[in-house]
Amino acid sequence: MTDYQTIIDTIGAQCRQSMDRGKVANYIPELAKVSDSKFGIHLVDSNKNNYRAGHSDEAFSIQSISKVLSLVLAFTLVDNAILSRVDVEPSGDPFNHLSLLEFENGIPRNPLINAGAIVVADILVTELQDPKRDFLQFVRDLTNDQTIDFDKKVARSEKKTGFKNYAAANLLKSYGNLKNDVETVLDFYFHQCSIAMDCAQLTKAFFIFMNRGVCQRNKTYLTLGQVKRINAIMLTCGFYDEAGEFAFEVGLPGKSGVGGGIVALLPGKYCVAVWSPGLNAKGNSKLGMEALEKLTTESHQSIF
Ligand code: DON
Repeated sequence: MTDYQTIIDTIGAQCRQSMDRGKVANYIPELAKVSDSKFGIHLVDSNKNNYRAGHSDEAFSIQSISKVLSLVLAFTLVDNAILSRVDVEPSGDPFNHLSLLEFENGIPRNPLINAGAIVVADILVTELQDPKRDFLQFVRDLTNDQTIDFDKKVARSEKKTGFKNYAAANLLKSYGNLKNDVETVLDFYFHQCSIAMDCAQLTKAFFIFMNRGVCQRNKTYLTLGQVKRINAIMLTCGFYDEAGEFAFEVGLPGKSGVGGGIVALLPGKYCVAVWSPGLNAKGNSKLGMEALEKLTTESHQSIF
């Protein structure tokens, strides 16, 4: 049996000492206040055994990790109808890139870049009765944790400086690929990104992707076909223009956020979340990626 705790303790000790920690995101001013000295990791295996190290129960802004959760809810509400409005190809571009969107007539490359997630947000705004309340309730149910909440300061902070997301939403609107008004959809999107969760809570939320669509309370959220598809999207698009590097070094489907979190999973085996706020040049957690590379290398386990 793999000794995950020893591996995680070693990774935690190495990462805590690392001098080269990347740069904390500052384009959302509220995120710049977080210390780059934080490091946490939490792993849950298929038998629901938990292994942790460092600041694994300190909440942080999940940011783009939320895009996978909104995609799950959209799939459960409208299933493959999503695919007429968002493609599933890696973009090879940064998360907030816009020129492809114009070249491709307002159809975003995939649901994990900002433009694609804004289309998914639009679908949720249309489908949900009270979008922010209902989405938050969905995340709380998925994790069986009613304490999870939006960080309204972070949402407000992003709204003030989210010029590129306004540009993306306006471009989508001009191509007829945004049904609701720009302000309503972005208000929802900024709130979904602002959700604060810790590594332990994130492994609970992403448990469904390693457990055939079934959460820790044995409730089924996704069909096997949907799990296959979302895991494939995470593997090919979850790290933007670093998706190839992540597959090459780590070898797991996963998703990052500019708050410095990464969640990844090995189907049938485990789900892991790591947090270190310093980002690399591609906007993914620097130590988070290094930690996950060490995990799959040391455990000799990856999807490959
Ligand atoms: O829309 C944005 O720019 C942020 N709310 C989320 C970006 C993000 O997390 C990119 N991931 N690494």
